[in-house]
Amino acid sequence: MQNLSFNKHPHEIFEHWYLQSQGRAEGQKLKQKIKIKSQTLIKNLFTQIVPSLDRMNQNAFVLATANKSGQPSSRVVLLKEYSPKGYVFYTNYNSDKAQDLITNPVASLNFFWAYPTRQVRIVGDVQKVSYEHSSRYWDSRPKGSQEGALASDQSKKIKDYSDLEDSLKSVHEQFKGQKIPCPKHWGGFIVSPKCYEFWQAMPNRLHKRTQFKLNTNGSWDKAFLSP
Ligand SMILES: Cc1cc2nc3c(=O)[nH]c(=O)nc-3n(C[C@H](O)[C@H](O)[C@H](O)COP(=O)(O)O)c2cc1C
Repeated sequence: MQNLSFNKHPHEIFEHWYLQSQGRAEGQKLKQKIKIKSQTLIKNLFTQIVPSLDRMNQNAFVLATANKSGQPSSRVVLLKEYSPKGYVFYTNYNSDKAQDLITNPVASLNFFWAYPTRQVRIVGDVQKVSYEHSSRYWDSRPKGSQEGALASDQSKKIKDYSDLEDSLKSVHEQFKGQKIPCPKHWGGFIVSPKCYEFWQAMPNRLHKRTQFKLNTNGSWDKAFLSP
């Protein structure tokens, strides 16, 4: 597996690792790289392994937030956009996580990829993306996902699962044959990074940990941490 020196902007390292986790990094063309004589093996690789990489939610990460008393909580969400400016995920703005982020707009993100074994930790300040930005992503979602998002009052108690199914049915009826506009209580958050840690498994547990911290000049201070 091609590695990357840490003499890069941390976002570039993130992107490289992220794409590698999905077999999509530059120079990682599985077809060319793996010289396998058997055509059957190649066929299996592309029909079974590559699609299963997609299903492995390589864009999933653990999002940790804290409420205003400092009580932490974490859950998995999906990374939908990324750039050096930040990392974007979408959610219900009335959910517990969103309420944490509105009152305490900092978050810690944790990506774990099993092969090669890597972890990326990112800490950053959080803000909502604009309604127009959320709307663009909302419009790209399948209608079923839009209906589900409208039917669910995320993080709130429900009496019975069937209430949720009924709620979905009524949303479905309400918007039959119509476009569903992005609800105001649904949208993205962008996490602007101020600290990264790249962790890579190495033999004898001498794992490599490389930390980048944003300094007051806007550049990144790099340090190596003991595993
Ligand atoms: C693989 C996976 C992906 C998920 N993606 C999202 C997501 O992108 N946005 C979201 O709001 N919840 C997502 N969830 C559900 C959250 O983990 C969580 O249950 C939900 O957002 C409510 O969290 P909260 O009550 O802490 O706000 C995902 C869960 C899993 C297991």
